[in-house]
Amino acid sequence: MRTLERCTGFAAWLTIVAALLLSSQSVAASEKADKAKQAAAAPIDASQYVGSDTCKTCHEDIYKSFETTPHWKTTFKKQAGGAQGCEACHGPGKAHVEGGGDKSKIFIFAGAEPGEVSKRCMSCHEYGEEHANFDRSQHNVNGVSCIACHSPHHAKAAQYLLVQKQPELCYSCHTEVKQDFARPFRHRVDQGLVECTDCHNQHGGFLTKQLRATAAQDQVCFKCHADKAGPFSFEHEPVKTEGCQACHSPHGSTNPRLLKRAQVNLLCLECHTLTQDSGTPPIPTFHNQSQKYSACTMCHTAIHGSNFDAFFMK
Ligand code: HEC
Ligand code: HEC
Ligand code: HEC
Ligand code: HEC
Ligand code: HEC
Ligand code: HEC
Ligand code: HEC
Ligand code: HEC
Ligand code: HEC
Ligand code: HEC
Repeated sequence: MRTLERCTGFAAWLTIVAALLLSSQSVAASEKADKAKQAAAAPIDASQYVGSDTCKTCHEDIYKSFETTPHWKTTFKKQAGGAQGCEACHGPGKAHVEGGGDKSKIFIFAGAEPGEVSKRCMSCHEYGEEHANFDRSQHNVNGVSCIACHSPHHAKAAQYLLVQKQPELCYSCHTEVKQDFARPFRHRVDQGLVECTDCHNQHGGFLTKQLRATAAQDQVCFKCHADKAGPFSFEHEPVKTEGCQACHSPHGSTNPRLLKRAQVNLLCLECHTLTQDSGTPPIPTFHNQSQKYSACTMCHTAIHGSNFDAFFMK
């Protein structure tokens, strides 16, 4: 699939390359495609690039700290058109340098349009599953760009150039979610045992609420709660059809086991009634709602599915 897409794009680019770069020599075809792709993002004129060493002469502090970041690598690999290091992000610097540091002649990230910022980062990061869907993410759609979370020069976290580590990073905007994880029963996100990004793809994906999936494209919860995945000889239908959220509050809850309802029977009665009025099996008549029958999972212990009993008794 991926290969196919690439090939189609590749063919299209070849056409454009032929049209735009008639003068081009016999560089490898793949390089041509690369160049054309970059050309779409910004017009290329190799003579406008001065190289990171020149930036260093005036921005020594930035240069020195840049050497310690993963982006230092980009200094050794020229992008199409001759950009490398500093200029791979900030664009060509010749006019800026000749103007003695004219700020209007170089791309400045602070205050730039979020879409433009992310486009620049994506020129290198668009490949791979993780970032391929950033465009469709709620973050991008709502104007949250890469640098709301990452800072190439002033990162505060030890890893991933983050402006803050998790979960504080996420709470800084999602204040309402912070309360979820302060509830008596919750995933231990504040303690670092589970991270927001274990369940969510902050970079976007196809599922609602930017949820991740397992490698097998199943509910993300199975990544850690594999015992609930089955397949079981007797499935409890909503676990598969509606997902774990049918009964659990995934972040946190005031009820034990992260349940949505304080009493188990009230949870079950949302779907199982005394009468057959929906597709859901009714509760048998001998289940009077006395004390004995209200603790449903005392008897229906294998509530997520069973290999032995159609009524989930074991
Ligand atoms: C990966 C992309 C990227 C690269 C490579 C990069 N920058 Fe930046 N630069 C940024 C972003 C984004 C900002 C905004 C501040 C931030 O988020 O860290 C910035 C800000 C700046 C600023 C404004 C002052 C400041 O401290 O924020 C200067 C000056 C600067 N960069 C110079 C350079 C120089 C010199 C290099 C090469 C040594 C370089 N940049 C390499 C992305 C980059
Ligand atoms: C001749 C010295 C000189 C060179 C060389 C130079 N700069 Fe600058 N740069 C400056 C000065 C001076 C400023 C303005 C600082 C100010 O007004 O705060 C500046 C500002 C900037 C800013 C904006 C900072 C801000 O306030 O947001 C960026 C980004 C930047 N330079 C990047 C680069 C990059 C990338 C290179 C290499 C291509 C480079 N500079 C080379 C002198 C230089
Ligand atoms: C809402 C915050 C947020 C936004 C927006 C965001 N990131 Fe990230 N990114 C993170 C966090 C948090 C991590 C740490 C790794 C993890 O837990 O997935 C990360 C990890 C990464 C990594 C390293 C790990 C990997 O999977 O490759 C790269 C590269 C990266 N981000 C690039 C980007 C780019 C490029 C953009 C914009 C197109 C972007 N990010 C937008 C929060 C964000
Ligand atoms: C010229 C290509 C290029 C551009 C443009 C670029 N990056 Fe990167 N980025 C890289 C490379 C190369 C790495 C290192 C990957 C590795 O080590 O495997 C990297 C690594 C990262 C990482 C992971 C750091 C870690 O600790 O693992 C983050 C986060 C990231 N980039 C964010 C950004 C953001 C945000 C922007 C835009 C402001 C950006 N990048 C622009 C090439 C680029
Ligand atoms: C700079 C602010 C900001 C930061 C930081 C931020 N977000 Fe967001 N996030 C937003 C905005 C704005 C939206 C879209 C509006 C909304 O749904 O609240 C959003 C949407 C989301 C959604 C989708 C919600 C939905 O209803 O579809 C998830 C999930 C999410 N963010 C998770 C995270 C995670 C995880 C982190 C930390 C890695 C994070 N966010 C960091 C601003 C931010
Ligand atoms: C155990 C997995 C898991 C973890 C950890 C997790 N989430 Fe969620 N989150 C979910 C699920 C599942 C939903 C969807 C709930 C629904 O559809 O009813 C969700 C929904 C959301 C939403 C949409 C609004 C809402 O409340 O329904 C946001 C925003 C969000 N999460 C942010 C975060 C942030 C920020 C963190 C870390 C502080 C985090 N999540 C940690 C699983 C998780
Ligand atoms: C990254 C691993 C991870 C993911 C993904 C995950 N969980 Fe958990 N979950 C845990 C851990 C670890 C605990 C134990 C928490 C503790 O001891 O504080 C837990 C506890 C629970 C509990 C409470 C168990 C008890 O005995 O009280 C429930 C219910 C639960 N998770 C449901 C879910 C649901 C629903 C999802 C998907 C939305 C999910 N989990 C995704 C790791 C995960
Ligand atoms: C039909 C409602 C329902 C659905 C759907 C559901 N659960 Fe549960 N779950 C419960 C109930 C009720 C309990 C409490 C059982 C008890 O008290 O013995 C529970 C307990 C748990 C526990 C803690 C005890 C244990 O068995 O380990 C975990 C973890 C858990 N569920 C995870 C999940 C995950 C993951 C999913 C989605 C795959 C899910 N649940 C879907 C009703 C449900
Ligand atoms: C979200 C709706 C929903 C909730 C909540 C729910 N169930 Fe179910 N349950 C179903 C559906 C749908 C079926 C399967 C119907 C089928 O297979 O025809 C089912 C099947 C069953 C069966 C097997 C019945 C049979 O004839 O195969 C039992 C027993 C059962 N549920 C008990 C419970 C208990 C106990 C709870 C509370 C812990 C509960 N259910 C919560 C929807 C729900
Ligand atoms: C004291 C043990 C016990 C408790 C507590 C209990 N059940 Fe049952 N349940 C049973 C038995 C026994 C059956 C019948 C199994 C059979 O027919 O072989 C059953 C069957 C069911 C069925 C399947 C009906 C059918 O014919 O398809 C449903 C649905 C059900 N129970 C729901 C519940 C709910 C909801 C609760 C809590 C309000 C609950 N049960 C509490 C023992 C219990």
